[in-house]
Amino acid sequence: MSNLKILVINGPNLNMLGIREPGIYGNMTYPMLCDFIKEKADSMNIDTFFFQSNHEGAIIDEIHAAYRKMDGIVINPGAFTHYSYAILDALKSVAIPTAEIHISDVDSREEFRKISVVRPACCVCITGRGYQGYIDAISELVSKIKAE
Ligand code: DQA
Repeated sequence: MSNLKILVINGPNLNMLGIREPGIYGNMTYPMLCDFIKEKADSMNIDTFFFQSNHEGAIIDEIHAAYRKMDGIVINPGAFTHYSYAILDALKSVAIPTAEIHISDVDSREEFRKISVVRPACCVCITGRGYQGYIDAISELVSKIKAE
């Protein structure tokens, strides 16, 4: 059997990791985060593909392009989490098993961060586990895909 293919999408401002509010988001840069995820995923025999954009439409195009190509999506939509019905609809359109992940604990921050409009399209949601959350999201997602 060939390796599962997981697309890891990061939304706006996540290219600023390492610079952006390190007390909340940590010290790793975005390329370091990708290396960290890839190394762990490789050891789980999972192929990872990475995409980051600050633009809603570009994220939607990438989700559409994943149709029939990717087995799963792990997405940190950044602030789009809280208001992008267009990303919700894109995820629903392709119906690829999806995990939502947040580095910070969105439920213990400002009120607006407690709302996720993309969650109804996701079968896994992980928050507040830092970078490890991406690894946990991949393994939970893969378990669900394999159980299907
Ligand atoms: C975030 C939380 C969001 O509220 C915020 O807008 C982000 C990052 C996180 O990973 O904790 O950009 O998704």
